[in-house]
Amino acid sequence: MSLSIDLSGKVALITGVTSGIGAGIARMLHAAGAVVAGCGLEAAFEDKSVSLYVATDVRVPEQLDALVAATVDAFGRIDIVVSNAGANIFTGVTATTEAQWQQNTDLNLAAHWRLCQRCRSWLEVSGSGVIVIVTSNHAYQTIPGCFPYNVTKAALTGMVRSIAIEWGPAIRCVGIAPGFIDTPGNQGWFNSFPDAAVERTRTVDSHPVKRLGTPDEIGAWCAFLASEYSAFASGTTYLLDGGRNALLQ
Ligand SMILES: NC(=O)c1ccc[n+]([C@@H]2O[C@H](COP(=O)([O-])OP(=O)(O)OC[C@H]3O[C@@H](n4cnc5c(N)ncnc54)[C@H](O)[C@@H]3O)[C@@H](O)[C@H]2O)c1
Repeated sequence: MSLSIDLSGKVALITGVTSGIGAGIARMLHAAGAVVAGCGLEAAFEDKSVSLYVATDVRVPEQLDALVAATVDAFGRIDIVVSNAGANIFTGVTATTEAQWQQNTDLNLAAHWRLCQRCRSWLEVSGSGVIVIVTSNHAYQTIPGCFPYNVTKAALTGMVRSIAIEWGPAIRCVGIAPGFIDTPGNQGWFNSFPDAAVERTRTVDSHPVKRLGTPDEIGAWCAFLASEYSAFASGTTYLLDGGRNALLQ
């Protein structure tokens, strides 16, 4: 017997497909046979793994309405939602302004809940509805200065639990907490240091696997979590960090 992930016939709505992890998720869900609808901040985006692209600012509820409507208009259903769009809002406990706090809450917390609310009825009729929320290793441990991003990423693990217990059994909800994944977003973090290359080497060396993760590795996990092979998984967030958390110092 061979085991392969087959998502054919399923429609996946993925946020943040234009770059990094979201692009990897789109590639892997497409490779598993799903039809992918995706969004991002960019006005236009073309990739063979994304069948429908809708420029969307996920912080704006009306734009989420339009994203969900466009997906259903195009494909008639939504079976898988991967709520991935986000950004590093690293301003620190002392310096964070009210505006930055709000910006972070809108993007890295409320947008995930709003998208899930709007997709709920479609996921229910799917018969195998799955939500994957992309949180972060910062949900568990963090670095000085990474507030308030880490606060919202921790809160997302609670959102995963609430959705799972309130919307099950029709809908499963799981979280993925990536560690250091090689993306433009992560490179932006390295670039904030005086010598980005030195910081990158230092970070790689602190991983038991001696490398950063790839967007396709996160995408492959999403494909598995969206498949029938993970049908018993719900309400939990999976940390994928190359063993980094095992190292105390
Ligand atoms: N790269 C990492 O190491 C890492 C680690 C842990 C968690 N994450 C999380 O993974 C997700 C993706 O990170 P990445 O590194 O691939 O980022 P990235 O900057 O490479 O890509 C971000 C994507 O999100 C979209 N986006 C950003 N703001 C948006 C908005 N307001 N509305 C709609 N789309 C928006 C962008 O258009 C882009 O497609 C984020 O939620 C991030 O917090 C990343």
